[in-house]
Amino acid sequence: MNRATAIAHPNIALVKYWGKRDVEANLPAVPSLSLGIAEWRTETTVTWGAAFDRVFLAGEPAPAAFALRVSRHLDRIDPHRPRCEVETHNDFPTGAGLASSASGFAALTLAAIAASGRQATRWELSALARQGSGSACRSVPGGWAVWRDEAAVALEVDWPVRLVVCVVDERPKPVGSTEGMARSAATSPLWSTWLATAEGDVEAAIAALERRDLEALGAICERSTHKMFATMFTATPPLIYWQPVTVALLHEVQGLRARGIGAWATLDAGPQVKVLCAAADAPTVAAALAPLSLRTLVASPGGPARVVE
Ligand code: DP6
Repeated sequence: MNRATAIAHPNIALVKYWGKRDVEANLPAVPSLSLGIAEWRTETTVTWGAAFDRVFLAGEPAPAAFALRVSRHLDRIDPHRPRCEVETHNDFPTGAGLASSASGFAALTLAAIAASGRQATRWELSALARQGSGSACRSVPGGWAVWRDEAAVALEVDWPVRLVVCVVDERPKPVGSTEGMARSAATSPLWSTWLATAEGDVEAAIAALERRDLEALGAICERSTHKMFATMFTATPPLIYWQPVTVALLHEVQGLRARGIGAWATLDAGPQVKVLCAAADAPTVAAALAPLSLRTLVASPGGPARVVE
């Protein structure tokens, strides 16, 4: 077999990864906890055996920087690999703070290993995916995933919460996560506080998950998010991923809570707002946030990355 296709879902961190303790190995400076999104997916096919690497994104030759990241990741998986053709497709916007690199590197890793006929455990696949993009290691186990060291592991929690994803700007972000986190680490005066409080946030989030305490989990999620952005705003030069409508959405989320509806916001390196809520409240939350958004999606917990053919 020299060809395989894999699917992976993006994931959204509720306790955020921002910073590296080892840049070369791509090990995180802080632990993180995420939830996979069932409704979005990256599908990637790797076919080994070509004169040179050819990478297609949504049916078109991929931009050079994207193709280079793919080739470099495949080199890490197997330094003696043959050249190959890679076709990848996201059914959601690429590079706009919607975690396309997470599902992208997870699907690429699974497809590349399967196409070469190698066997690997989920832990090994997660560790390989991490080297392409840190958040990708959490898309391998999918669902509720915790990442501390080499690989992410799934938490066996069956809890059908929802994330209302508010897309407000589909343009690629001006500063990528890797560069953004390096800048925060090097220049933010808040960096040591960020590092010192992250483990406590993850432990409290896991405890909240175990007792299905959405209010506690939501509060930790917002706190982790705002601490992460505090390191961005206080970097030199500052990293401002938000748009005016992002702030309007955050006020609307507070307004929902004031009206007794449990809703808690998180954001990544981009202006989109993702709102954690109970399944029963999702229609109300989505209806309140839709007038401010380009698009809203009610997302439910997604499963692990998998080989499909
Ligand atoms: C803000 O995983 O994209 O989305 O490891 O450098 O590729 P690299 O970074 P990446 O960073 C994601 C950061 C975040 C928070 C999170 O997903 O935890």
